[in-house]
Amino acid sequence: MNSAELNRIATAMVARGKGILAADESTGTIQKRFDGIGVANTEDNRRDYRELLFRSEAAMRQYISGVILFDETIRQKAKDGTRLVELIERAGSIPGIKVDAGAKPLALCPGETVTEGLDGLGPRLVEYRKLGARFAKWRAVIDIAAGIPSATAVHANAHALARYAALCQEHDIVPIVEPEVLMDGGHDIGRCAEVTEFVLKQTFEELYAQRVMLEGMVLKPNMVIAGKKCAQQGRTEDVAERTLVVLKRCVPAAVPGIAFLSGGQTDQEATAHLNAMVAASTLPWALTFSYGRALQAAPQKAWAGKADNTARAQAAFAHRARMNGLASKGEWNAELEKEAA
Ligand code: 13P
Repeated sequence: MNSAELNRIATAMVARGKGILAADESTGTIQKRFDGIGVANTEDNRRDYRELLFRSEAAMRQYISGVILFDETIRQKAKDGTRLVELIERAGSIPGIKVDAGAKPLALCPGETVTEGLDGLGPRLVEYRKLGARFAKWRAVIDIAAGIPSATAVHANAHALARYAALCQEHDIVPIVEPEVLMDGGHDIGRCAEVTEFVLKQTFEELYAQRVMLEGMVLKPNMVIAGKKCAQQGRTEDVAERTLVVLKRCVPAAVPGIAFLSGGQTDQEATAHLNAMVAASTLPWALTFSYGRALQAAPQKAWAGKADNTARAQAAFAHRARMNGLASKGEWNAELEKEAA
C-alpha cells in the first residue's frame, strides 16, 4: 500500500471548490432516469449522455475533482473512439469506479439489506486500476421504518464497507465509504440524527478493526434530514447544524474529506445545505459534494435524448457544478441561481 499516494488522491478528491460527479448509475438505475425523460436505455444513449457531461470541459476542470463510473462506462469509448476515461483525465479530473454489486436482502432481517460484492473484489480492483480508476465507491443502504434498522443490519453493512475499504487501499485505490441512511420514510430529523450517528460510529469502528488508513479515504454520508414523507421538514440551518453535530461526534479529523450524497433532495436544497455547513464553522475535514441526481437532473431534462440539445444540457450541468462548487466554499447564495448558466 502506497500511503502517500492514497492520501494525495483522497485530498485531491476534496480539493477546495471542487466535488465529485456520481455518474455511476447501474444500467437499471439509469433506466429509471431515462424513463423520466423518455429516452430509450441503449448503450449508445448511455454513452452519448455521459460523453456530453465529460466533454463539458470548463465545468469539469473547475468544479469536478473526480467522476464515479459504472463498469460499462469505464470500458466505453466516445463516438470518436476516445476512451471516456481519457476525456475525464484530459479535463483534469480523476476517474473512479463503483465496485459494489448492490444491496441484497439480508438473511433473517426482513426488510433490510446488505451490500454484496466482496467475493473476487481484489482481482477486479487490479483490473479497474489498469483501466484508470484511482478511487472506488461502495454504497451501504440503511432504511428507517418501524423496528428498523436493526443492529444486525448496521453491523453487517459496516463490516462489508470496511472489508471493501481495506481491499481498495491494498490495491492503491482510495475507497469512498458510503453508508447511506435513506430519506425515503416518514421519520423526523431527530430519528435520522440518531440512526446516522449509530451507523457512522459502527462504520468507523469497523474501519479501525480492518486497519483502514483514514488519511487515504473519503466518507460519503447522507445529511441529517427529515424523511421525505415527514410533515415537519427542517429549515436549511437545522439540517446543517444537526448534520455537523453528528459528523463531529463520529468522523476522526484524520479523514481528509467528506463528500455528501444528495439522496433525493432537490437540486437547490442539496446546494443550500452544503453551503450552510461550510459557511457555518471551521471544520477538521473538507466538506463537498458527491452528487448524482442533484448534479444530473437538470442536464438530463435539457438533453432529453436529442443531440441538438447537447449545448443546453452542458450549460445546465455547468450551472449546477458551479453552484455546488461555490457551496463547497460557502460562497453560494440563492440569487446566483437566477444568473444565466
Ligand atoms: P445521489 O446524489 O443521487 O443520492 O447519488 C449519489 C450516489 O452516488 C449514491 O450512491
